[in-house]
Amino acid sequence: MLASIKSNYLQSESKKLGMMYFRVAIVLFGAQLLMGLIAAVQFLVPGFLFEIFDFSVARMVHINALVVWMLYAMLGAVYYMIPDETGIETIGVGLGKLGFWVLTAAVAIVVLVYIFIQVGSGSEATIWLINEGREYLEAPRWADIGIVVVVLIFYWNVFSTFMKGQKTGIMTVMVANLMALAGLYLAGMFYTDNISIDQFWWWWVIHLWVEATWEVFVGTLAAYALIKIINAKREIVEMWLWIEVLMLFGSGILGLGHHYFWIGTPEYWWEIGALFSALEPVPLVAMFVHVLYDWGKEQGVAEKEGHRNVMRNGPAMAWIVTNAFGNFLGAGIWGFFHTLPQVNIYTHGTQFTAAHGHLAFFGAYATILIGMMYLGLQGAYGIKTLKATFKSKMGITMIVVGVLGMTVALTIAGYEQVLIERAELGAGWNAFFMAQELPWYVQAQTWRTIMGVVTFIGFVYLVWDLLTIGKQARLAQEAGIQQ
Ligand code: HEM
Ligand code: HEM
Ligand SMILES: [Fe+2]
Repeated sequence: MLASIKSNYLQSESKKLGMMYFRVAIVLFGAQLLMGLIAAVQFLVPGFLFEIFDFSVARMVHINALVVWMLYAMLGAVYYMIPDETGIETIGVGLGKLGFWVLTAAVAIVVLVYIFIQVGSGSEATIWLINEGREYLEAPRWADIGIVVVVLIFYWNVFSTFMKGQKTGIMTVMVANLMALAGLYLAGMFYTDNISIDQFWWWWVIHLWVEATWEVFVGTLAAYALIKIINAKREIVEMWLWIEVLMLFGSGILGLGHHYFWIGTPEYWWEIGALFSALEPVPLVAMFVHVLYDWGKEQGVAEKEGHRNVMRNGPAMAWIVTNAFGNFLGAGIWGFFHTLPQVNIYTHGTQFTAAHGHLAFFGAYATILIGMMYLGLQGAYGIKTLKATFKSKMGITMIVVGVLGMTVALTIAGYEQVLIERAELGAGWNAFFMAQELPWYVQAQTWRTIMGVVTFIGFVYLVWDLLTIGKQARLAQEAGIQQ
């Protein structure tokens, strides 16, 4: 019986392609976590896997896998939602599928090269063939160009479907924002041998992705998901979306200045960066309120009308609510902590930055993208109401506790670095190493590793759930237990 239940209830090829992207995304997420664990152990036992799998490689694969899995899940989410939003099948899905396989083959080759060629001197050829050396975007140039081609196909599919189909507010924002998101990638592709100029442009990708275009992107996902899951009113959701877009771009674009304090750019960036980045938490509050407001409102309507409130997908909603909290905490609060130059002069590049990086990437992006996977599964198995299972609950709880635990531990490590390495010992090379050997730092790194293991166990539950929840719910639905 179980074998006859397949995830083939999707009519749309675009949605099927979306699910293909989700599958690769979750595998890369797992790889990311394993690499993080190796790097975390290396903080405690520096000789661990020395010259077999060096820290530099583990860290690089950790953060590149992070970016790539998130991009995969984003592409998946777009292909999944296009047919619903435009009312038609995505144009050019066949080409889109080809793009998927090309991209996946390229990612596999890039990672294998990273693993087999770990050290060596840099040259023009290594930039083309091995590693471009820009944190988070290390793909060699050949892969960069391949990525651009695949993204052009993708964008063409999205754009032409949008032009032909119905034009909702969500799709309008999506299409315009995706153009900016994809276009920014180009800023991280050209080579310059001046490190200041290189960093100047590199931040256009990283900052303008995570603090402008990616945020707008998840705004569109949240809007779409709230309509699907709790039947939120489109007019209200889209009104929020436009306000959020305005505020996100209003603060996020010039907030870029908070990365230009110490890299050789003119000093006026201190004021610009301080002012605009300090405003960045405002839209994040709006996004937080938005999700909770809609949720509360729909519940209120249900109570008044005397019917059960609508909750079509428990696990997806849990992840989206976690997103509202996580985005606000990780990006808004932990970001604001170190965004003023007066503070950043001490915290810059410490474990405090890593604490913020973890909670922000997780809170703002991992959460909602996992939510979209659950939404996809619901469609794939044709389930009316998807309820959380024990595994769903274990997954979300352990991952959230793990990431929060890592964040707290890293914040303590960063605090120690600020006080001892920076303030007391004067921030030199020696100070850096001395501060790393003191008990507060070592204990914090130990706790981070423990919490990393907790996160990983949560991930195992999550994958287990994703693999089984659809079939189970389908069986239950067919048996008439769940309606
Ligand atoms: C979801 C949104 C965000 C994500 C994913 C994110 C992620 C990150 C990451 C990974 C870094 C480290 C970059 C590196 O390796 O050098 C970083 C740095 C930084 N972030 Fe964010 N961030 C977000 C939002 C914010 C916000 C809203 C603020 C301010 C209110 C902020 C302030 C900063 C600052 C000041 C730095 C530089 C830290 C340093 O000098 O070492 N971030 N962010
Ligand atoms: C098993 C759990 C994890 C462990 C053990 C782990 C460990 C690490 C380690 C050791 C580093 C290098 C830090 C450094 O160079 O000082 C790192 C960097 C990073 N990790 Fe993780 N990580 C885990 C999960 C995650 C998750 C879930 C996310 C986000 C969704 C994430 C995002 C990042 C980012 C953005 C950086 C770069 C931070 C920066 O340079 O400021 N990690 N991680
Ligand atoms: Fe930033």
